[in-house]
Amino acid sequence: MIYLNNASTSYPKPDSVIQAVNNILLQVPINYGRSGINRGDKNIVNDTRELIKKFFNAGDNYHCVMNSGSTESLNFAIKGLDLENANVVISATEHNSVIRPLKYLEKLGKISLDIVECDNTGFVKPEKIENAIKENTKLICINHSSNVTGTIQDAEAITELAHRNSILVLIDGSQSSGNINIDLDKINADIFCFTGHKSLYGIPGTGGIIFKKSIPLTPFKHGGTGTKGYLTEQPEDFPIKYESGTMNIPGIYALETGIKWIFDIGLENIINKKKELINYTYNELSKIENVIFYYNKEKSSGSLLSFNFNGIAPEEINYILANSFDISVRSGIHCAPLIHKYLGSENGGTLRISPSYFTTYDEIDIFLNSIKKIVKSL
Ligand SMILES: Cc1ncc(COP(=O)(O)O)c(C=O)c1O
Repeated sequence: MIYLNNASTSYPKPDSVIQAVNNILLQVPINYGRSGINRGDKNIVNDTRELIKKFFNAGDNYHCVMNSGSTESLNFAIKGLDLENANVVISATEHNSVIRPLKYLEKLGKISLDIVECDNTGFVKPEKIENAIKENTKLICINHSSNVTGTIQDAEAITELAHRNSILVLIDGSQSSGNINIDLDKINADIFCFTGHKSLYGIPGTGGIIFKKSIPLTPFKHGGTGTKGYLTEQPEDFPIKYESGTMNIPGIYALETGIKWIFDIGLENIINKKKELINYTYNELSKIENVIFYYNKEKSSGSLLSFNFNGIAPEEINYILANSFDISVRSGIHCAPLIHKYLGSENGGTLRISPSYFTTYDEIDIFLNSIKKIVKSL
């Protein structure tokens, strides 16, 4: 199998990540506050929290909460803010994990929702966001790097214009984390959601949310925290206020190990390797007749490439790649239903390839030759 679907979830995982999960599952379970077992000075959850803050350059004014990933984090932010009677502005590039919780609140009559258009590569002009702001706008949501086109938004300009208008910004960092260098202090981000299983090389069901300590977020999970067990109400202390239930320690350990692996290899080296692979793929695909790209080289993270062939359904190519050539890519809407109107890909979405640091040029060449054969035969 040639795996070119790392924007969905990364594969393979670094050996150190596999070993970390394996080792931790072979040990007596750690459950902080419950079992009395700890491994010397090491508290895996807190160590990972600190490593994540270092990775994203989130200073002392930020909290980092660990959870099951971006979907949980985005729901937590959207439902944990007081948005009663507020207007929320989102971009057309958002993922359903932002759109659906907001549509849910809109249906309940709690919020109004405005969608800002993007260009035909998924870039959203900050001034268009500013023009959409209403008197009661309380929140702007932005997909930092589109999972359909890879286009990176100008997060710093968006937070600047939002703060000028006393509005908070929620950044979905699912596709930017590990694919671009992120400096949350510089962006002055309010709330940033990330996932562990994509380009942070962790495993599914991990990730978290980083938010300014000054932002009051109401937890939507209440329950056991392993501390202050005599209290019948949720403790107010951070982080336990937000981290109820038995935590996914093997997953968090995998995430810590994945990020350490990135530090070892060097984020720039990982980014450049993927960029080179995408660039090569783009140049080679350009030689095939009737190819359509949804790509802005200057603004792309360089971690994925979306394209189509005129008159051929992306799903059909995906099916043949998987079943006749043993190559895994992704086709369709990619859980981002609003962007396709602006890309001109409403009818069937796009084909998307997303290599990893581990992808080789030989694998890309096999993919390219297979595509050529398929396009010729259809
Ligand atoms: C842009 C974007 N947002 C959110 C998500 C959801 O992430 P998770 O799998 O961590 O819930 C994804 C994953 O596909 C994504 O690409």
